[in-house]
Amino acid sequence: MATIRLGDIAPDFTVDSSMGMINFYEYLGDSWGILFSHPADFTPVCTTELGTAAQFKDEFDKRNVKMIALSVDGTASHAEWIKDINEVQNTIVNFPIIADEDRKVSNLYDMIHPNADSTLTVRSVFIVAPDKTVKLMLTYPASTGRNFYELLRVIDSLQLTAHHKVATPANWKNGEKVVVSPAIATEDAKKLFPKGVEEIKPYLRMTPDPS
Ligand code: BEZ
Repeated sequence: MATIRLGDIAPDFTVDSSMGMINFYEYLGDSWGILFSHPADFTPVCTTELGTAAQFKDEFDKRNVKMIALSVDGTASHAEWIKDINEVQNTIVNFPIIADEDRKVSNLYDMIHPNADSTLTVRSVFIVAPDKTVKLMLTYPASTGRNFYELLRVIDSLQLTAHHKVATPANWKNGEKVVVSPAIATEDAKKLFPKGVEEIKPYLRMTPDPS
């Protein structure tokens, strides 16, 4: 099992899922991707997370992001669990959940942390760019549900900074001022960002959202 690091190519796989056999790269096509793992089916926090992910699907679609979840139970169990999620979260789970009974994908992506739990996955998140490079990794314990607003926020930052020479500051939200990339001299930045550049320190320059 190789350790995955930011910038690495996300490993491809073909597995069974709640929507049938699925090849990760074919599923993603030219989209961005979010692969996120759950400790097990019929667990309370996971139930809220998957329902929330389904409720957020329109927002991920707008950003050209495809979601794919993973849990270490089989497809029959997933099918029953999805009925519960849809009922209690008043939604329709509309993306695949990988049935990773043999831990193939969990091991490929190092989602089992034996000192936390020897068999179940932790709550991992991998954001994959259209070129299949890994852009973000998050690892949460089983006892802490993830924040899907934060995942949307990170996607907004990744997509903005992929196209403009900027970075996003602490607690940034889409549309707010951004940081000029440190590699750009202030004089050049003024030409590059016609909306204006505010020099707070020579190394800290802000500009309105350039998109
Ligand atoms: C849950 O998803 O609710 C959960 C799973 C494993 C441990 C604790 C909580």
